[in-house]
Amino acid sequence: MAKIIDGKVIAANVKKQVREEVEKLIAEGKQPGLAVVLVGNNPASRVYVSNKEKDCAECGFKSYEYALPEETTEAQLLELVDQLNHDDSVNGILVQLPLPKQICEQTILHAIDPKKDVDAFHPENVGHIMIGDFRFLPCTPAGVIEMLDQSGIEISGKHCVVIGRSNIVGKPMAMLLLHRGGTVTVCHSKTKNLAEETRRADILVAAVGKAGFVTADMVKPGAVVIDVGINRNAEGKLCGDVDYANVEPIASAITPVPGGVGPMTRAILMRNTLTAAK
Ligand code: GUN
Repeated sequence: MAKIIDGKVIAANVKKQVREEVEKLIAEGKQPGLAVVLVGNNPASRVYVSNKEKDCAECGFKSYEYALPEETTEAQLLELVDQLNHDDSVNGILVQLPLPKQICEQTILHAIDPKKDVDAFHPENVGHIMIGDFRFLPCTPAGVIEMLDQSGIEISGKHCVVIGRSNIVGKPMAMLLLHRGGTVTVCHSKTKNLAEETRRADILVAAVGKAGFVTADMVKPGAVVIDVGINRNAEGKLCGDVDYANVEPIASAITPVPGGVGPMTRAILMRNTLTAAK
């Protein structure tokens, strides 16, 4: 029986700490603000954005929501980003991904003022992550580290295997684990003998985007299993990348979906917004 790592409880702790700091800023007449930009009608993105608004209210931030139509041009979005870059009431800017196909994501992410880049997607902030002199922490990977820390799970000296090499999760996850003294392997769609690699993990992080991808034969008994996936299965039910029912009995600790990494990503976003305001 694995210990279930409860992301909702840990995220609530992080947000409570943020709230306390934000209250001090409010008392000085400096309420921080987060601008969230949503382009188009992606249903999952709409849910994420409305959750972020709730988090802002909970932490005491002002939130500014910009919902733009699906046919918005790159030039129009760049103009909004420029306006937000120069707006002193906006401390953090988040442009929800994915963007409609006529807009180049990289162009937009590079246009956000690095000092307001609460996602830590700007190359300047990615560089800081690589070096380890963090300004903004990447939200999902930092959320995973916080879960391990608050659960008393040591990273230093452990073999950590990350499945997935995305810029949002896989690559920065590997960097944070490395920074904390883990021995890190990054696996991806071209990896040969994947199960052989994942079975060596003391800490296994799945960021694949495929329901039930990590099966019990891929997990070493006693491993810590972190599930970053948010998928819908054939019945439309929210589920992670890990075959939870069969992996949970052999893991020493595991994160559920929902209620695992998801709330942590949002909590770190709040912490980054506080960092931006300071
Ligand atoms: N879409 C999925 N995850 C994220 C995220 O962490 N930040 C942004 N901006 N968009 C996303």
